[in-house]
Amino acid sequence: MDNASTSDFEVVTERAQEYIPAPPAEVVVEAKKKVLFVASEAAPFISTGGLAEVVGSLSKSLAKSDVFDMRVILPLYQDIRKEHRKDLRYLGNLYVPLSWRNQYCGVFEYRSEGVTFYFVDNEYYFKRPGCYGYYDDGERFAFFSRAVMEILGFIGFYPDILHCHDWQAALAAIYLKTVYCLRPEYQHIRAVFTIHNIEYQGKYSLDILEDLFGLPHRCLSLVEYDNCINLMKGAIECSEAVTTVSPSYAEEIKQPYFAHGLDPIIRRNAFKLTGILNGIDPEFYDPASDVSLFANYDAKHMKNKAVCKAELQKMFALPQKPDTPVVAMVSRLVAGKGLDLVKDVIEQALREDMQFIILGTGESAYENFFSDLANRYQGKVVAVISFNSDLARKIYSGADLFLMPSRSEPCGLAQMIASRYGAVALVRETGGLKDSITPYGAGGNGFTFRDYNAGDLLYVIGEALGTYRNKDAWQSLVKKAMKTDFSWSASSKYYEELYLRLLK
Ligand code: GLC
Repeated sequence: MDNASTSDFEVVTERAQEYIPAPPAEVVVEAKKKVLFVASEAAPFISTGGLAEVVGSLSKSLAKSDVFDMRVILPLYQDIRKEHRKDLRYLGNLYVPLSWRNQYCGVFEYRSEGVTFYFVDNEYYFKRPGCYGYYDDGERFAFFSRAVMEILGFIGFYPDILHCHDWQAALAAIYLKTVYCLRPEYQHIRAVFTIHNIEYQGKYSLDILEDLFGLPHRCLSLVEYDNCINLMKGAIECSEAVTTVSPSYAEEIKQPYFAHGLDPIIRRNAFKLTGILNGIDPEFYDPASDVSLFANYDAKHMKNKAVCKAELQKMFALPQKPDTPVVAMVSRLVAGKGLDLVKDVIEQALREDMQFIILGTGESAYENFFSDLANRYQGKVVAVISFNSDLARKIYSGADLFLMPSRSEPCGLAQMIASRYGAVALVRETGGLKDSITPYGAGGNGFTFRDYNAGDLLYVIGEALGTYRNKDAWQSLVKKAMKTDFSWSASSKYYEELYLRLLK
């Protein structure tokens, strides 16, 4: 009896199943993977350089893919631009434990182009001009990183990937893997650490481990290096993946010449290191729509680039000669940017028919050198010792040739922006410069030289000025530079793959 009824039942259900339509494939919606960028700056809110641009534009690009729920967290500095500050939404506050301290932490939110930004508010730490350079930067960014860990519970967002950028965010990865990993909500989180510049590692005296960073003594070996606390080293050890901002730089930092002492750590962790070339936001850096330019143009309509050049020359009281090449630099005036090479050869180069414009601030020795040069070569050399992004774009658009002879350059964005604005880049073959600019002689989009040597720089400046005199050759080189794809579309795929691999 039992048997019979069971089999009857089976027959009925089998038949019934024949009539149940399979659910359409679209119904199976995979939840987005949650990614949180932790960084000390992000464009458009606050920026001192490339880090902010990359955090801003990469998060936007990843959000577009629809695979990721992208969020970014950064400190609420006093200098966050007013036009953004007024639109921040206050979410509430909490107290953050940091060693024996218990600090106030307000949380604000702002949504833009698919990315949610969070701002960590504490006036004691962040209500100061600028972002860095204070005696207590270690404590400020320890607070920030610890606050990030606490805020996850407060906002109910435990990411799948915690992606920390540079030493200021290194402690977030370290806290995650040493302190918070004991809590179940944090155990699935994978940490990625990106080195934007290995020169700045966050080094502190060993005796503040517990008092200032609130790390138990058992963590010492993770963060200790060369008799110091080294936060970058700690984050490399604690992260499941480490990236840097170009493939060439990923190779270079295995060598002492580039690694500022960290090469043994990089070599030991090479199995989890990848180099992914940065991109720029092509909508933001677009000579066809950029309102800071004197006139707009694109690779097909170049007439207005000549207008930009003439207006730039006029603005700086340079003779308005359309056929005299304008050679430009927009750079922090620090040794790593190759300024000693420029210093050695610029006067020889100036014997040629050219005008030279340099914009930037930095070490006083360079500021003085270039100001003095401009005084001695009036009508030929201009030195603007300040930084102003509006003026930088006017220079990119008015220049013919853009110099970037860095000794070391993790990625560099200026060579990409210059190319997009039709100022042909002349770079040393290092890091991201090597990966983005290829030599004209081999059919490339700019000029390059290999060895860090003033004679080689002078030689290639000569080659570029020679090419400039051949109008057709120059025009097609300018077009090639402008059409090079520097957008994130290729590179953000590598991040996407990396995240998905870590989550498998
Ligand atoms: C740092 C590097 C620079 C890179 C930027 C963004 O500022 O020095 O080369 O382009 O970070 O990653």
